[in-house]
Amino acid sequence: MAMNICIVGSGYVGLVSGACFADLGNSVICVDNDPAKIAKLRKGIMPIYESGLDEMVKRNKKEGRLLFTRDLRDAVKKSEVIFIAVGTPPRDNGEADLSFIEHVSKEIAQAMPSYRLIVEKSTVPVNTGEWVEHTIKTFNKRNVKFDVASNPEFLREGSAIEDFMHPDRIVLGVKSKKARDILTELYKPLKSPIVVTDIKAAELIKHASNSFLAMKISFINAIANLCDRLGADVAEVAKGIGMDRRIGEKFLNPGIGFGGFCFPKDLAAFIRISEKCGYDFGMLKEVERVNDEQKLNAVKKIESLIWNLSNKTVSVLGLSFKPDTDDIRYAPALDIIAMLRKEGVKIRVYDPIAMPKSRAILGASVKFCKDPYEAVKGSDCLFIATEWNEFKRLDFKKIKKAMRQPVIVDGRNIYDPEEVKALGFRYIGMGRR
Ligand SMILES: NC(=O)c1ccc[n+]([C@@H]2O[C@H](COP(=O)([O-])OP(=O)(O)OC[C@H]3O[C@@H](n4cnc5c(N)ncnc54)[C@H](O)[C@@H]3O)[C@@H](O)[C@H]2O)c1
Repeated sequence: MAMNICIVGSGYVGLVSGACFADLGNSVICVDNDPAKIAKLRKGIMPIYESGLDEMVKRNKKEGRLLFTRDLRDAVKKSEVIFIAVGTPPRDNGEADLSFIEHVSKEIAQAMPSYRLIVEKSTVPVNTGEWVEHTIKTFNKRNVKFDVASNPEFLREGSAIEDFMHPDRIVLGVKSKKARDILTELYKPLKSPIVVTDIKAAELIKHASNSFLAMKISFINAIANLCDRLGADVAEVAKGIGMDRRIGEKFLNPGIGFGGFCFPKDLAAFIRISEKCGYDFGMLKEVERVNDEQKLNAVKKIESLIWNLSNKTVSVLGLSFKPDTDDIRYAPALDIIAMLRKEGVKIRVYDPIAMPKSRAILGASVKFCKDPYEAVKGSDCLFIATEWNEFKRLDFKKIKKAMRQPVIVDGRNIYDPEEVKALGFRYIGMGRR
């Protein structure tokens, strides 16, 4: 049965979820308090890059199933289910900043005319559901009945629509049968396994999942560092480990560390939550440490091939934290660029999609180039920071001719070491022979 849904926060998660729910036949109102974002969306301009999103939004907007507004109260009046998908950015101490969640909860409470189901979709620390419920109770002066539920989102930027439509599982943290029935009905068309828990467990599932995945990445990065010292190839080791079904082959690609708006902040938040409830989750602190060190390792690798960094030129290919997205939040490329610049390195950059967002941060401190070939002009080192497909097949003869020194530091292991070495490049990957 089609439902009237409101999604508060129209970012990577809110917009994709809203478009997908609309595509499944529901009437969706996406709310955001950023006037520029709403104006763009109303004109059919996507504020983010996500494959397939543009067409999906346009199609559902045309069918009248997808609306965009800044007016949260009006959207709450017209919707029976309200998803909160606002940001939960990290505070200086790593804790999640939940002020947006509180603000939205208050507004929802004041606008609800009758029963509403309020669903946390943002990634939030355990016990946030209780605070949301408490806040709504406090500001819901007319004593309207409501339920709070937790439905963490597991989509990945770059494959967000596919992930939303075909999730490995849907987690529903609920307190009442009514909330469970509504959400089960809403997700029925996806035909995916549903895990029903209480709200606390659902909140913990999201933080625990992201922390586990981050741990897997730091683990393989540590193995890569060992391989570097021992002359073994991490690709061979990872293959051998990953074929064990208890471990699995995914997330065993070494690199320059994880980034993005999820892993670094969720890991930090989970460490703080554990601390707050009296448990020292030291294992996760080590995951963070290995991740931070990995960026420094990349700089050291560059230094090991071009000697003094001062006044050298490094071409950084890739700025987004991973391919197929324009998201540069906590992108390792940006940290590495900052470290190199501190050493007096001149930076030339190219990214297929993320340059407009990067300009706002990097400004004139780096030279933005129109393609990889312009980026390597007069350069002492080509550094692969993001494994975009278009970097996998470059014309290496052209690259070598344009560079001052034929040096590649492959932060994502996208090249065959033997092949590029045979072409006359000095090459280092991450844990490769
Ligand atoms: N990005 C991901 O891949 C991903 C995946 C799973 C979960 N999450 C989680 O989902 C949440 C949202 O992440 P995101 O990447 O979509 O963030 P985002 O920054 O892209 O989007 C958040 C949106 O909320 C809006 N907003 C903030 N306060 C508001 C308010 N009071 N009223 C209306 N709108 C408001 C912002 O303007 C912004 O557009 C976070 O908790 C994140 O951890 C993100």
